Amino acid sequence: MFMQYKFPENFWWGAATSGPQSEGRFNKAHRNIFDYWYDTDPDAFFDKVGPNVASNFYNSFREDIDLMRQVGLNSVRTSIQWSRLMKDFETGEVDADAVRFYNEVIDEFIAKGIRPVMNLVHFDIPVELLHQYGGWESKKVVDLFVIFARKCYELFGDRVKDWITFNEPMVIPEGGYLYKFHYPLKVDGKAAVQIVYNINLASAKGVQAYHEYCEKEGIKDGRIGIVINLTPAYPRSESPEDVAAAHFAEIFKNNAFLDPAVKGEFPAELVKILTDDGVIWESEPEELEIIRNNTVDYLGVNYYHPARAKARETALDESLGWLPEKHFEDYEWPEARINPHRGWEIYPKAIYDIAINVRDNYGNIPWYISENGMGVEGEAKFRNADGVIDDDYRIDFIKEHLEWLHKGIEEGANCFGYHLWTPIDCWSWMNAYKNRYGLIAVDDLATQKKTIKKSGVWFKSLSENNGF
Ligand code: NOJ
Repeated sequence: MFMQYKFPENFWWGAATSGPQSEGRFNKAHRNIFDYWYDTDPDAFFDKVGPNVASNFYNSFREDIDLMRQVGLNSVRTSIQWSRLMKDFETGEVDADAVRFYNEVIDEFIAKGIRPVMNLVHFDIPVELLHQYGGWESKKVVDLFVIFARKCYELFGDRVKDWITFNEPMVIPEGGYLYKFHYPLKVDGKAAVQIVYNINLASAKGVQAYHEYCEKEGIKDGRIGIVINLTPAYPRSESPEDVAAAHFAEIFKNNAFLDPAVKGEFPAELVKILTDDGVIWESEPEELEIIRNNTVDYLGVNYYHPARAKARETALDESLGWLPEKHFEDYEWPEARINPHRGWEIYPKAIYDIAINVRDNYGNIPWYISENGMGVEGEAKFRNADGVIDDDYRIDFIKEHLEWLHKGIEEGANCFGYHLWTPIDCWSWMNAYKNRYGLIAVDDLATQKKTIKKSGVWFKSLSENNGF
């Protein structure tokens, strides 16, 4: 069969989800910040739908994993909920039902021929750690994270060989401490900057603990990485002011995590600007040493849309205190193609730009697309007479991105896989079930009936043919 785009051997064709977005809150020992937020303010969520049921993975994981197999996934990322696994955050005592659940999930993935990729933090810190210690603002929480991470390796590391410390770490300071789209809904630039540092430190300590675990157990084929959302920032014009603005957006949004994770150090320019602005983080030499010595084995890149930046033209609201926007302003590119069903810009070439950037500036570290995908509001209207969601737009979206990824690989990018967000329509942080991303639809939230979309059938052929 003639294929225009053939991918490297053993390429990961998979999809990603997370514990809080799929499991439901059944039998959980603790609440995470989203569970708590929903309990205290259900109106904050689209249609008042909270994380209580999500896509019911806790109860239906066997059927769900079978559906994932049917759409051809050879690898799947999900996350272990800190608020489910740990009974006691300090002593490391674990919850027996959670251990049973994650063991069964991992075994089921493997039995169905799907490689499990396990992530540790997907925005979901247990709410007690926020209330008692101030969450990621506190270095105490960094150490509690290491206790949780170690438990995960010890319990599941005999079968899970691909670990991730954090998913989209920048969303934690952005959502919770700058732009109020995640709990605790603060605007505090100084705290946000400290959190950027503390999470980098936590990730490095998580990497260190994993490597120690592998050493002790004689595990040679395990690896640990981080998933970073990269939004390449393109300037409005070639003017030095616009270029500087886009450059700041790039180093703040992307490199503040990418550089420490892969190179073991923060971008010097960023440190200088934050120091001049009086918001630089508190760090200790021994911590910087840990970051330097514990870089990741591989990288996951979530890519949805680019950033477009211009030099500031309007004044910032001073009453909000320090914001990264001091150094740039978002710019609406008139030629942008906008996803009509979700409002985000579609710009597939950025995947190629990322591939070349990682190849040239990050030692060509092994990496994969850990999320990419198309959210569609009101997707039920695309259901055809046979009851199947006819989502050609999603197939086209994936193809366009894969074409650019393929070009990057042909030019030497060390990319080993592509994961779509997401296998099964799932719950999102504030938008709940508004935008659907899955290869498999949740037809009805009440019954949790699930059907494979047209894109799911297509994805299977993509995976089987290792290309299209
Ligand atoms: C990124 C996040 O990792 C995930 O939790 C979210 O639901 C998707 N993008 C879609 O916005």
